[in-house]
Amino acid sequence: MKRAKISGIGKYLPDRIVTNTDLEKMMDTSDAWIQERTGIKERRFAEPGKETPSWMGAQASLQALDMAGLKTSDVDFIIFATLSPDYFFPGSGCPMQKHLDLAGIGALDVRNQCSGFVYSLIIAEQFIKSGMYKNILVTCAEVQSTGLDLSTAGRDVAVIFGDGAGAVVVCESDDPKKGILSGNMHADGNYATELMVEEPGSIQPARSSKEMLDKRTVFPHMNGRHVFKHAIQKFPAAIIEALDDANQALDDLDLLIPHQANKRITEAIQQKLKIAEDKVYSNIERYGNTTAASIPIAMREAFDDGLIKEGSLVCTAAFGSGFTWGANCIRF
Ligand code: ACO
Repeated sequence: MKRAKISGIGKYLPDRIVTNTDLEKMMDTSDAWIQERTGIKERRFAEPGKETPSWMGAQASLQALDMAGLKTSDVDFIIFATLSPDYFFPGSGCPMQKHLDLAGIGALDVRNQCSGFVYSLIIAEQFIKSGMYKNILVTCAEVQSTGLDLSTAGRDVAVIFGDGAGAVVVCESDDPKKGILSGNMHADGNYATELMVEEPGSIQPARSSKEMLDKRTVFPHMNGRHVFKHAIQKFPAAIIEALDDANQALDDLDLLIPHQANKRITEAIQQKLKIAEDKVYSNIERYGNTTAASIPIAMREAFDDGLIKEGSLVCTAAFGSGFTWGANCIRF
């Protein structure tokens, strides 16, 4: 059977930096509170209308294709993960095709929030292994900034999120020792309302209304403590499962790239698994939580920093809204 490997990694971050001090001017918060609770110092906000998820995703994809030594015309399928698509419908993979001049090939949007990358990598791997496609773009992009309540009422959520895009190219490989070794996907819909944007939605008799704005149900709602409690259990379990399935031990791991949810969640995973601090990648202080995009952005930066080399064993893991969670084990 064919194996799938990551041949290219790309990222795109908007130029606009929004520091914690900038947020202090919009809401009752403080740099000290945000840094202590989340580890975040600054995040990027996209230019509305220009830096859309599909456009930012296209920039990250081009960088990933460049690293892979491939042209856009070599791509035979697109998987696009986001919780903040350009439109309610169609999915962002379709407008991204337009930016990349890739009309005609299949484009699948994945709605798995923070776990979007983990799920998408597994989906891509299955298509490669089955022989259906040879070069798949897995693109993840988020514009959170236009959907946040940047007043004091929304401060518990608004300080956490940022905008950005990341992408990987997943290709067919004949090397049995390298590539994507394992992956797992989990979900528990009993917790669907603990981290969500409730409205607008088709569940309502009128999909959108002025009352929704008044009730603030159009903004993300998060039961922060609940999310924290579940995240620090599910992350380690998914990582161990992925390593076991790949017949690898924790000691073999060269780098863990967790979804950049919150510095305290990352620290709790590191301590629980007793992994050395320098083997757990973190860039949340500069970008905040970019949801589906956070893992491929971090992967590109880890590669640029020389932390991912030929032969490195890398584990990626995520937990988020749904609840959804999972992990991947990759030999580069
Ligand atoms: N600035 C200042 N004060 C704030 C802010 C803010 N931005 N947000 C909330 N507060 C206040 C609250 O109003 C509350 O005030 P009170 O005591 O007067 O009522 C106080 O700070 C403490 O609020 P808590 O919600 O109890 O704060 P907590 O210590 O639990 O920290 C946090 C909140 C950071 C969200 C925490 O629960 C957490 O880390 N949760 C994990 C969730 C997470 O990181 N999600 C990431 C997105 S989901 C994902 O990617 C998995």
